[in-house]
Amino acid sequence: MANPTIKLAPSILSADFSRLGEAVAEATKAGVDYIHVDIMDGQFVPNITFGAAMVKALRPWTTLPLDVHLMVAEPERHIQSFADAGANFLVVHAEACRHLHRVVHQIKEAGVKVGVAINPGTPVSAVEEVLPDLDMVLVMSVNPGFPAQVFIPGSLDKIHRMRRRIDVLGKDVELEVDGGINESTAASVVKAGATVLVAGSAVFNQRESVQQAVGRLRRRMGEATG
Ligand code: DX5
Ligand code: ZN
Repeated sequence: MANPTIKLAPSILSADFSRLGEAVAEATKAGVDYIHVDIMDGQFVPNITFGAAMVKALRPWTTLPLDVHLMVAEPERHIQSFADAGANFLVVHAEACRHLHRVVHQIKEAGVKVGVAINPGTPVSAVEEVLPDLDMVLVMSVNPGFPAQVFIPGSLDKIHRMRRRIDVLGKDVELEVDGGINESTAASVVKAGATVLVAGSAVFNQRESVQQAVGRLRRRMGEATG
């Protein structure tokens, strides 16, 4: 039995961009927990994906929370438009914020749940001062910018260390992990202490249906929790 407290958040980055609404509906039907929406600006990361208008267009396709991962420079310029578009979580990168504390509170004031992401090269301590204010911390297990990259093994120890900090705090902060999550890595990530797993290419691929892919991943996640 999968542990119901561990959430699965498919990233639509790997879905067919010409039918993203259907992809969101399909994932919703497969029983996932959040829809992970990767926003890339061609500056913080090399690629450009889409913006707030896409979040607004996808909003009617699901009742699930939209977990919006902002891989953009100076995210403070865009918080209000993503909040207005219907995002439920706005996750900004610590590396992209000159005034992280201010941005965190800007998101809270917009009435949206707030998360902070850290890249593989950024230490756990980068979020320490804002951790009590967060709903979610996102540990990147690949360098952001592209789907279907290989999970960086050292991320497991980092997830462990982040888990300890959250436990010491005694607050209900979700620990999300993003990048290279598949059948081989899911269980160890859960064991390390993650509570939300993002999966792009392991959910949206040519090999199987979204329903089948979600079933496989859930089984692996369940094995980790017993
Ligand atoms: C990476 C994105 C991820 C990506 C994950 O820059 O933030 O959300 O879609 O893709 P997979 O699961 O294929 O590594
Ligand atoms: Zn992401």
